[in-house]
Amino acid sequence: MPIHAPLPIDLSGVRLEPGRGLSRQLYQRLRERILDGRLPGGARLPASRDLAGLLNVSRNTVTRAFDQLYAEGYIEGRVGDGTYVAQLASVVAAAPTQHSKPAPSAALRLLDQHHLSIPPEGAPRAFRVGVPAFDLFPFETWARLSARFWRKPSPARLGYGDPAGDQQLRELIVAYLRNSRGLQCDPAQVLITSGAQQAISLCAQLLVQPGDRVAVENPGYRAAGHAFAVAGAQLQGVDVDAEGIDTAALERLGHCRLAYVTPSHQYPTGVTLSLQRRLELLDWAERHDGWVIEDDYDGEYRYSGTPLAPLAALDRQGRVLYVGTFCKITFPALRLGYLILPASLAESFSRRRALDMRHSEIGTQAVMAEFIAAGHFQRHIRRMRSAARSRRDALLAGWPKAITGCAAMPAVDAGLHLCIRVESLAREQQLIAAAAAVGVEINALSSYWLPDSTPAPDQRAGLVMGFAAVDEQQIEAALRALRLAWKL
Ligand SMILES: Cc1ncc(COP(=O)(O)O)c(C=O)c1O
Repeated sequence: MPIHAPLPIDLSGVRLEPGRGLSRQLYQRLRERILDGRLPGGARLPASRDLAGLLNVSRNTVTRAFDQLYAEGYIEGRVGDGTYVAQLASVVAAAPTQHSKPAPSAALRLLDQHHLSIPPEGAPRAFRVGVPAFDLFPFETWARLSARFWRKPSPARLGYGDPAGDQQLRELIVAYLRNSRGLQCDPAQVLITSGAQQAISLCAQLLVQPGDRVAVENPGYRAAGHAFAVAGAQLQGVDVDAEGIDTAALERLGHCRLAYVTPSHQYPTGVTLSLQRRLELLDWAERHDGWVIEDDYDGEYRYSGTPLAPLAALDRQGRVLYVGTFCKITFPALRLGYLILPASLAESFSRRRALDMRHSEIGTQAVMAEFIAAGHFQRHIRRMRSAARSRRDALLAGWPKAITGCAAMPAVDAGLHLCIRVESLAREQQLIAAAAAVGVEINALSSYWLPDSTPAPDQRAGLVMGFAAVDEQQIEAALRALRLAWKL
């Protein structure tokens, strides 16, 4: 006997599309109605024969749908008494309604304000920023090394590994930094990450307390600023001049927990931090008990002389966290980078990494280790540097001489992009829109500033252009298109 009188039910809205998994469709329609309460607990379902007649389907179709609902606990049968909707009070109550939407946490609100704009997808075009000449990557070599690793991986490398990353790769990074960049460190200070962005984000998670002041270059790499802001930092923009970050302005800010900088090639202005400023920055960190995050994202690209020694190579007090990435020498989607940490921080970072994801996936690390050990990496750096230089030359040679409202092309000695000042925000937007209309990508310098920056809007205007993404012919074609679009 039913505990309470069966409720009348209305199945008039149930529509099945002919010919396509009828019993599955019926199961889904009934399940939806049970979950959203239209078929309340205790309601009696029509007999299978009646429902089949009502819906104009075979009785088998209805029985199969009922069987599935029964097996999953949505309905129950009472012998000799028909089929009833189960009492699912908690499921119905838990079904989301507009009113039960939880208030966003502080972290979710911060994420709303500080999300990354996704870089353009698809094959690179002139003058995409942040992208190296990945058309030159030796994929056959990579495929061969990868196949060799996976054919017979050493069992010792297949279990849970060191959270700091593959030991062999860390040793090779140490040797590379010592020989090519003049940076001395120990494998215990190396932490493998999924690219520079994750390294920066880890620094934000571990070094920043909510409310801390964090100094960032302004204009600067907004994605780094967002990572610090989401960790609760109050961002403090510091001006950048011809010598890099203005250390006197940094000093005037008073106490900051850390400063994030791009010394080799400031992003996006392209200036190199002078030696004097490097020493002042280290001195600042020491006196304020602060940290310096050195993002050396494109330090391998230097077109006159050898690459500069990083700021971390001058650090005697263990105040600099050095961020390196393979993504600007290979290709961004590889997602492989590293942090060189002061010895005092290495263990904490490694523990944090273990909590996040235990450690990076072994395949990419092991193949990169082979790629470096066999000399391919150094060869590839030389190939990439020479390609980027020649692509830079194509842009400099073909750049129109007098563009109204545009400063002259600066000297470009490093990196993968350049920056040209423009006299006003209106002119910047006009040039960029006309370029976009003919399929040429140019970034607005005005988009790299913090929202409440002091320079007047017209002083924030400029063109930021990557020159390495495509080959010389495509650069020349883009320059022809620009001449027409800009009516030069
Ligand atoms: C200044 C700067 N740092 C870091 C990155 C990110 O590098 P990764 O792809 O290794 O996360 C970029 C990418 O454009 C960058 O411009």
